[in-house]
Amino acid sequence: MKHIITQASALAVVCAFLHTGSAIAQDPNAGRNLAANCFTCHGTGGNSVGGVPPSLAGRGSAELFQTMKDFQTGKRPATIMHQQAKGYTDEQLQAISAYLSQLKPAAPRVPSKASY
Ligand code: HEC
Repeated sequence: MKHIITQASALAVVCAFLHTGSAIAQDPNAGRNLAANCFTCHGTGGNSVGGVPPSLAGRGSAELFQTMKDFQTGKRPATIMHQQAKGYTDEQLQAISAYLSQLKPAAPRVPSKASY
């Protein structure tokens, strides 16, 4: 009897996991909605003003994902991104990375010729 209960709860965990997965996979706006959190610092549409912190628009999806994983594990040094990266599951990071990679990078900023 105990064995059956253990199997049932294991199944419930698997179902909960699959359900979460399919919710993100089925929501075409998941990447956009999650990436909105990044734009506060990385600029509207992933293009930061003056390049600080670096723009994210149009960067490779795999590269973005790996960078976020490196922030999560602490492999890559950071001031703020460790905290930012830790709140997301792999699936969410994949959705964010895929979305950011599709955004158009802004044209390089031409330095102003105005004299101050
Ligand atoms: C509170 C401001 C802030 C937010 C929000 C934020 N970042 Fe960052 N990000 C930074 C800073 C600052 C750096 C430079 C590394 C550091 O010091 O942490 C950075 C660096 C990065 C880098 C490395 C860029 C490079 O070329 O070196 C990536 C990739 C990145 N962030 C992705 C994201 C993603 C994806 C999100 C949203 C899930 C996000 N960031 C949210 C501030 C932020």
